[in-house]
Formats: sequence, structure tokens, C-alpha cells
Amino acid sequence: MFSLLRFKSLSLKIKSVLLRPINYTIIMRKNIVAGNWKMNKTFSEAEELTDQIVLEMEDKDLKCELVVCPPSPFLEMASDYAEESRLKVGAQNISEHESGAYTGEISAPMLDSIDIEYCIIGHSERRKYFNETDQQLATKVDLLLDYGIKPIFCVGEVLEERESNTHFDVVKKQLGNGLFHLNSDEFSNVVIAYEPVWAIGTGKTASPEQAQEMHAFIRKLILEKYGKETADEVSILYGGSCNPGNAKVLFSQADVDGGLIGGASLKANDFLAIASSFE
Ligand code: PGA
Repeated sequence: MFSLLRFKSLSLKIKSVLLRPINYTIIMRKNIVAGNWKMNKTFSEAEELTDQIVLEMEDKDLKCELVVCPPSPFLEMASDYAEESRLKVGAQNISEHESGAYTGEISAPMLDSIDIEYCIIGHSERRKYFNETDQQLATKVDLLLDYGIKPIFCVGEVLEERESNTHFDVVKKQLGNGLFHLNSDEFSNVVIAYEPVWAIGTGKTASPEQAQEMHAFIRKLILEKYGKETADEVSILYGGSCNPGNAKVLFSQADVDGGLIGGASLKANDFLAIASSFE
């Protein structure tokens, strides 16, 4: 029987819920899919790929920002395409020096002068093959921010570190040394990419649970250092053998805000399929 008493207590409950101050947190962070072309393509191939991406993205209602990071000789070409479209362009590296006698290097002001918006920093291939240290990476991050370019800062453990269960410590150290000297205004311009090294170019993707676990850990470190608002707003991308077949489940994880894509970004169809994977 639905007694009057029960009805009263029920309506009281509803009222108390309705009167409770509403404390919605609207999370504004951006989904991003960035293609890291690494050292691939000639000029004409790069232009063809950029052209295809721009054409294909015109017909799609993408729920993410789309970024291409071509090799440096093709940045200006890509930047010209970006001017006429929603595509964004990133570089793959910069010098730790601002200018001067550093033969072969590319500087932050050079990128700025051709309107480059992003730059990958600390990719595991740079750390491994070019012995880039945390200190150098921190200097590069500072230079980029001085020129209004957003770093896509890569972190991630090698297989032995995961197997010995030190992967959280490794990532914590990389973030601490490379980024946590920034103040919160500066930090709000940084994108983080978690790329387990064992998953890069190997076809061996991190499971959605492994990705989510590390992304949540990274966000917690940011929360402890910079507070909730900054932690809620920073985009954390996953990278490592991400493809059209696994992107959807990876991107559906609560703390995965997109991907840094290597191999699969070299074909417009695959890249766009990945970018279309947000629910
Ligand atoms: P992959 O590379 O997608 O080919 O594994 C990712 C990366 O190195 O950024």
C-alpha cells in the first residue's frame, strides 16, 4: 500500500535533491588525434596525404581536433593547407636552443614564423636514438611555450619497466622532470601523450584497461600538482599501435582524450577512421 506517510517522505526526498546546490563540473577538455609521420614521405607524397586528409575531413563532423606532424621540410606546405581548413599542424621536434650556430637544427621561432601550433616533445625515439635528457626536454617545452606553440609531451615505459612493475614510477619521473616546473597557466597549454614504448610500431597495443589505468594515474599527478580544474582540462592522448580497429574502445576510456598515431596516420582513410572513433 502506498501510504500517505510514505508519499510525504518520498516527496521530501525529491525536494531535498532538487534543493541541493547543483555542482556540475563541465569538463571542457579537447579530444585530439595527432598523426606523427616520423621520417616518412617525399614532398609530393606528403602533399597528396595532406590534401586527402583536408578533403576527407570536410565531409565529416569530427568530434576531435585533427593534427598532422609531418617532417620539417613539409611543415610550411601543411601549414598552408591548414590555413584553408580545420586541420592543425605540429612539428616532431625542436632544438633546445633559440637560434645560433647549431647546424641542422630547427628552432621554436622558426616554427612560430610559419604558424605551427603543436610540437611533439620527448618521443621515445628521440629519447632513445638521440639521447635526449629530461633536462633538454624541459628546456624545449619552455621554448615552445614562449613562442605560443603547444607541446605534445610524450611519456611511457619500456617493456622491462612494465614487467618489473616500475612503469608508474618511470612516467611520474618523466612528467616531474619535463613538465612540473611549469606554472598552471603554462601547463594548461600542454598536451600529454602516453606511449608505452613496447606498443610503438609493434602492433601490440596497450589494453584499454592498461591505457585507462595509466591515464588516470597521470591525471591524478596533475591534480595533486595543479588542482582539479587543470587536471580536468588537460588532454591525455594514447599512442602505440592505435588503428581504426582499436581506436573506439581506447578513446571510450574515461581519461583517454585521443591518440598520437604513427603508422596508421600515413594513410588518409585510416587516419580519418581513427579520428571518427569518438562516440
Ligand atoms: P605507432 O606509433 O602508431 O606506429 O605505434 C606511435 C608513435 O610513435 O607516436
